[in-house]
Amino acid sequence: MEETPQRVMSFIFACTDSSQDECLKRMLFGTSKQYGALAIRVKKGDSLFLLNLDTDLLYGVFRATSDWKLNIEPDAWKGNYPYQVRVEALGEVVTIAKAKSLLKGMGITGLSVIGKKGTLKLLEFFRPYNKPAKEWQESLFRMKGNKEATILGQRNWEFLGKIEKLTDDIEEVPQLQATTLWDFPRQSYGKTPKGDNKYAGVTPAELIWNLVWRYTEPNDLVVDPMCGSGTTLDVCKEEGRKAICYDISPPNGRKDILKNDARKIPLEKDSVDLIFVDSPYGDNIRYNDEHANIGNISSESKTFYDELEKVISECHRILRTGKVLGWLIGDQWVKKRFTPVGFEVYNRLCKYFDTVEIICIPRRGQYSHTGFWFNRARRLNFYLRGYKYLFVMRKPQEGKKQTIEERKVSWTFNDRDKNAKNKEEQT
Ligand SMILES: C[S@@+](CC[C@H](N)C(=O)[O-])C[C@H]1O[C@@H](n2cnc3c(N)ncnc32)[C@H](O)[C@@H]1O
Repeated sequence: MEETPQRVMSFIFACTDSSQDECLKRMLFGTSKQYGALAIRVKKGDSLFLLNLDTDLLYGVFRATSDWKLNIEPDAWKGNYPYQVRVEALGEVVTIAKAKSLLKGMGITGLSVIGKKGTLKLLEFFRPYNKPAKEWQESLFRMKGNKEATILGQRNWEFLGKIEKLTDDIEEVPQLQATTLWDFPRQSYGKTPKGDNKYAGVTPAELIWNLVWRYTEPNDLVVDPMCGSGTTLDVCKEEGRKAICYDISPPNGRKDILKNDARKIPLEKDSVDLIFVDSPYGDNIRYNDEHANIGNISSESKTFYDELEKVISECHRILRTGKVLGWLIGDQWVKKRFTPVGFEVYNRLCKYFDTVEIICIPRRGQYSHTGFWFNRARRLNFYLRGYKYLFVMRKPQEGKKQTIEERKVSWTFNDRDKNAKNKEEQT
């Protein structure tokens, strides 16, 4: 008997009443950049399902006949869903009603990559009544696909089988942050580590993931000139971006991190699509004994900012016009003196870049976040550092800044009195 293939994975694409016909006529599933991180994981041969969000119907089983690609059919859905996969139908297409409750019960969300066990469990709901499970699964994986979908009547899954929550067998891809407060309880996400969570000063991987998905496209080039344990490199590899990462002292065993001083980056001008820097914040961490380590200089001295400005100027040189630099930095309080490291670095960044956003990153996993230190901070009237800044800066086009007179902003004012009156009338 033939075995099921090595890679068994499935994905659920969503559609609405207005986009469903196009999916089935073109035999093409698509999504927007918002869900691009899920789409780029689809490979030829994966099982696919189509969920109509309006009717709550789930259609299956489909198979990807191509790896995902940008704009296989650029005019499909008026260009709104460029992350696309070509599909074929495996036999007649079964329709499952009340699909959202089925998926919720199985723990499948709009961001789930469903592994082998999960896929086989999900497939059970699509099995013809007269076929034993194993036989059907094996025939399904060998089946020649149809270029058109013949849709069968609806099934009610409640009568077909018991649902179990898929826990180990689902990998969630992260979600884009929507506000300017990005809080990441864990250093990494997903099934593979990103960077080394034991590395002093390691960056939350999801922070880099957010920059990558907001400001780059697949295959773009990302550079991290002070990459420490390589978090940026690992995130970019999974997200289909090229990455070049340097450090003054690459960790042992990471041949993919190049040794280089960030004050002189060996790349051409205007050649990079995104730069991420999580620089030292002063001399509070002993990264290594390298003489050129900027983390040996106190952030209470002007030299620290002068040296970082050399890195900033290099970043400006290699970045393409209109592209983004993300710089993560925190303030310092030591021996009764506060140093606004963030503001000082921001002032230097503003000499070269326009500001896109300033994001607040709560500090998690700090050595000082213990009862002992919390108590000291209260008793001795000082504060422990609670957050860092992520400065999101854009390389401006020469002479392209809008003047205040050119900017017309029309606010919609929320009339509190009117709202309060309406509420009163309703009650
Ligand atoms: C906060 S850590 C970066 C952490 C990293 N993003 C990660 O997730 O592991 C700062 C890094 O800057 C590096 N560094 C300090 N001075 C440097 C220089 N002149 N050139 C390149 N890297 C430097 C240090 O070796 C250290 O690894």
